[in-house]
This record gives sequence, structure tokens and C-alpha cells, in this order.
Amino acid sequence: MSQQEQWKSKIGFVLAAAGSAIGLGAIWKFPYVAGTGGGGAFLLIFLAFTLVLGMPLLLGEFMIGRMGQSDPIQTYGKLASNKKWNFIGKIGVFTCFVLLSFYSVVGGWIILYIMKILSGGLAGLTQNQYGQLFGEIISNPYATIAAQLVFMIITLLVVAQGVQKGIELASKVMMPALLLLFIILVIRSLSLDGAIEGVKFLLVPDFSKLTSESILFALRQAFFTLSLGVSVMLTYASYLPKTQNLPQSAISIILLNIVIAILAGLAIFPGVFAFGLKPNAGPVLIFSVLPAVFDHMPFGMIFFLAFLLLFLFAALTSAFSMIEIIVASVTKNDSRKRKKATWVIGILIFIVGIPACLSYGVLADVQLFHKTIFDLMDYAVSNILMPLGALFIAIFVSWKISKQDLFAELKQGSNIGYVFFSICYFLLKYIVPIAIIVVFLDAAGLSDWILHLFK
Ligand code: PHE
Repeated sequence: MSQQEQWKSKIGFVLAAAGSAIGLGAIWKFPYVAGTGGGGAFLLIFLAFTLVLGMPLLLGEFMIGRMGQSDPIQTYGKLASNKKWNFIGKIGVFTCFVLLSFYSVVGGWIILYIMKILSGGLAGLTQNQYGQLFGEIISNPYATIAAQLVFMIITLLVVAQGVQKGIELASKVMMPALLLLFIILVIRSLSLDGAIEGVKFLLVPDFSKLTSESILFALRQAFFTLSLGVSVMLTYASYLPKTQNLPQSAISIILLNIVIAILAGLAIFPGVFAFGLKPNAGPVLIFSVLPAVFDHMPFGMIFFLAFLLLFLFAALTSAFSMIEIIVASVTKNDSRKRKKATWVIGILIFIVGIPACLSYGVLADVQLFHKTIFDLMDYAVSNILMPLGALFIAIFVSWKISKQDLFAELKQGSNIGYVFFSICYFLLKYIVPIAIIVVFLDAAGLSDWILHLFK
């Protein structure tokens, strides 16, 4: 029998799991959607979803992960004494494969921007020129593919080292660095004249701007940003000893994730307003508006470099977790097979990601359902595969495993009360599945139709 690897320290696990959570979701998507979708009102809804839906599911993955002490696929069959449940893990592994293949594309863009700064080619442009430059950068087939490869290689170098010496060690360095850089950036951005407008834009609630679309986005975002529904958190918890306090770890991870998302907004919007730029640029905000913001500041490019580095760290620690679960399931946690498996899987992911990478350039015209390959993959993962996985996990944990066993697992390492546990259990059993079904109705275009019925 192969021996499961274990985290070396309690904080190592929390930082690695927070590293998985904090990524493009918190730093890239959250600020631009929050800003345009009602500011503080969106934030409140996101917080509510995170607590009511994200927290029970995160605890659910933690409990069965530590209970099963196995890889993300076999855990299900083992706990249910029936292999047919392994399909839930398979969905997660497949989802992470697809996810990393286009996540690495964005990781590559970050690397290209870092190189652009280092070569001095990013300073002194106008906002329009920054927009153009972004278009040029992401449509260059050779550079983007090479950068995507570099991102993958960094990821593989770390993950091939294993759980303790790879993921845990890297997270212990990168996560505190990320927090520190963020704090410096936020102080810088809040000290700009006119910064308060940006803070208001991000934090003052405007319920009139909430739409059914932004509410549903907040819901999906609550799952995506906590890496839920794909058995990543389950796998990370399978490397835990019974002494770890699961509820406390879950709360720390959730708090860190929220704090970083807000800090990202606070690093971005004050500058956007202070320099009279447009806050509603959407997904390109970070790449085409932010350079202009930083360019206006003294030593701006140094600060922007810091921002990109922390963005890169955040993306990398998320990427580690995506590939880790594939490696864990392929090797069945046999550490002798880890190195080879990591490289083979990584190269496959890179190859599958190439069309996504090219869909901003030579393959821009290849579209299905009015979506480019990149957008289609993103849609399949965020709107279909992840919610589907989350639905099955919620059902599995709350209907397949006995409530007493779950409570017993949770109590090991913590002195959690039965009432708190029961609330989470209830949410997982009824509310999470209902919420996910609403997401599906939306993906099927049925939500507008239903809203219509009630009007
Ligand atoms: N949570 C990561 C982010 O916000 C994305 C992710 C999803 C990572 C699923 C792993 C698994 O960027």
C-alpha cells in the first residue's frame, strides 16, 4: 500500500488551501464584477453566499477528504462502499484538467506583462495605447504559447516535488508575500488624491444595480473562488492528520479569500478614479486600465510589477491544486510515480490549452454558440462542470454519509458544537442543492423565463 503524504504543519495546509482559493477569481473577476454590479450590495450578496453555501460545502469536502484518506476518485467509492460513486471524483479531475488548460493561458499573460515591464516597454503610454498593447500581446501566438508553457513549467516544477516540499513550501513563501505586497499596494492606492471615490464605488451598496445576472454570478463565484465542487479541497484535506481543526481552518481560508478580494478592489479602484479612468472596463481592467493607473504614479511601474507578481503567485498556487488532484488520482498517491505523472499530465494540459491560447488571435473566428474556444471552456467549467460537481458532492456528503459519522469526524481536532454542525448539515442537504439547481436553470436560459412567469 502506498502511504499518503501529509502536510508538515497546520498553517501549511491553511496557506495551501487559501492559495488554491485565492486566484483569478478573487483578484481578477471579483473587482470588476463587484464594481459594476452594485458595489457593496454585490459584496454583501457574495458574503452571504460564501457563508451559507460555500462554508458548508467546504466543510463537507474537508470532512470526507480527511475521513477517506485516499485520492480524489477512490475516496467516494471507499466511503460509500460502492465504486460507482467514484464518478464524482472523476468529474472533478476532468474539470481541473480543462480549467488548468485555460487558466494557464491567463497565467502566461501575466508573465508576458512582467517581461514587458522589465524590458521597459510598458511605461508612458496613453490609456488607449495600453488597450491596444493588450490586444497585441494576447494575439501573438508564439509569445502567448511560450508564456503559457513557462507558467506550466513553474507549476510542474513545484508540484513534482510533492505535497510538503513542493506545494506547502511554495505556498508558505508565496502567500505571505502576496498579503504583504497587497497591503503595500493598497496603502499606496488609498493615499492618492480622490481615492475615496474608488472606495465608494467598491463598497457603498447600490441595490438598484443588482441584476439577476450579478446575483447568479455572485453565487457561482462563491463556489469558484473557494475551489469547490472539484474535490480539490477534499484532496488537500486527505493529507491532514486528525488533529487539525477543520472548522477553524475553513473559516480562516474563507476570511483570507474575502480579505484578498476586497484588497484587490481597493488596490485597483482608487487609482482608476483618481486618474479619471473608466472603472467598468470588464475583464481587461487589470491588463489595460491598471497599467495606466500605475503609470500616473511616481515609481508606478515598480508598484505595477509588485501587483503582477502577486497576481502570478495567486494564479500559481491555484494551479498547483488543480494539477495536484489529477496527479493524486493517477498515481493513487504512490509517491514513486509522482514526478513522471506530473510532467506527463502537465504536458497534456499544455497541449489541450493551446487552442484556448490562440482563441485571442489566429483562432478568434473559431466559435461555437457565439463563444471562442477560451470562452467556451470557461463557460463549461464555471457554469456547468463546477456546479454539477458541487451538487453531487453536497448530495454525497449529506445523503450518503451518516450524520453521526460526519459530526465525529468534524469533532476530531475541534470542539465544535452540535448546533453549528447541524446548521451546516441542513444547508448542505437542502439549500446548497437548490441554489445549484437555480444556477443550472440559468445556464439553460430558463431563469428569465421563470422570472417572466412571476411578473
Ligand atoms: N479558486 C480558484 C480561483 O479563484 C480557481 C479554482 C477552481 C482553483 C477550482 C482550483 C479548483 O482562481
